[in-house]
Amino acid sequence: MTEQVLLGKTIGFEQISIAADFIRNRLKIKDNASVASVAAVLGSGLGAFAQEVMEKSKSTVISYREIPHFPTSSIEGHGSRLVYGFIGETPVLLMEGRVHCYEGYSAGKVVFPIRVLQALGVKSVVLTNAAGAIGDHLEVGDLMLIQDHINLTGDNPLLGPNDLRVGPRFFDMTEAYSKSLRELAKKVGISQKLPLKEGVYIGVLGPCYETPAEIRMFKTMGADAVGMSTVFETISARHGSMEVLGISCLTNKAAGLSATFLNHEEVTEIATKVSKRFSNLLFGLIPEIANRHEY
Ligand code: HPA
Repeated sequence: MTEQVLLGKTIGFEQISIAADFIRNRLKIKDNASVASVAAVLGSGLGAFAQEVMEKSKSTVISYREIPHFPTSSIEGHGSRLVYGFIGETPVLLMEGRVHCYEGYSAGKVVFPIRVLQALGVKSVVLTNAAGAIGDHLEVGDLMLIQDHINLTGDNPLLGPNDLRVGPRFFDMTEAYSKSLRELAKKVGISQKLPLKEGVYIGVLGPCYETPAEIRMFKTMGADAVGMSTVFETISARHGSMEVLGISCLTNKAAGLSATFLNHEEVTEIATKVSKRFSNLLFGLIPEIANRHEY
């Protein structure tokens, strides 16, 4: 393998530090102080939460375009900005939109923002997405806590040389999605009379939706929901010792499981409809997650 190829795959500690310093400067946070202990990545159509945080607190918005080395998304339904705001006293970093491999980014580049969150002191990250429902227990409009994932992309953001300043070469993925965060989410869900389902997310590259034969295969493999994001972010968050809570908004029945064909408009439309309930959940949940970090 040529050095060029290897370099393209390295983690890029210097770039991460430059991006994190830029954000700290913009937020006027001195030295290496933690910016927020909790962050959330908001998937397709789920940006309403960021909007609400901005309306309710003194917030700072930084466009991804301004942040050195940050990848920017071209997909409709995905914002492209980092929002720093507060829920009560709790600071939170929100990524409105993410990039995907199908846009032409390497898996390593897709997780660059997760590395930057780690450098900013984030300890827990809430990864959200729109996904197609496979499991019989799931309906369109449901929110599903991700219990585990299957990375079916054939790729991994950690290929190439490892940088020990970011995380270890080998690490455990037995409880990639924190059980205690799921329990906490269920508790908040119950208090809001919001039922939360649970299941296994299978991550694919996209950008086409799946064939019915693929969905039948995924079901046999133990998947409950399918989507084109999240698995790389979880891998890199765990590499960096952050805890992960994954929430899928089920925007459609996966291919072949309903009489209709799939389209992106339907996905964003359903996600937008669910986004109020979703926003309430995050408002309740994020301060509770942050409280656990204060001892
Ligand atoms: N498949 C893959 N990704 C998705 C889907 C789907 O059915 N719905 C929303 N994102």
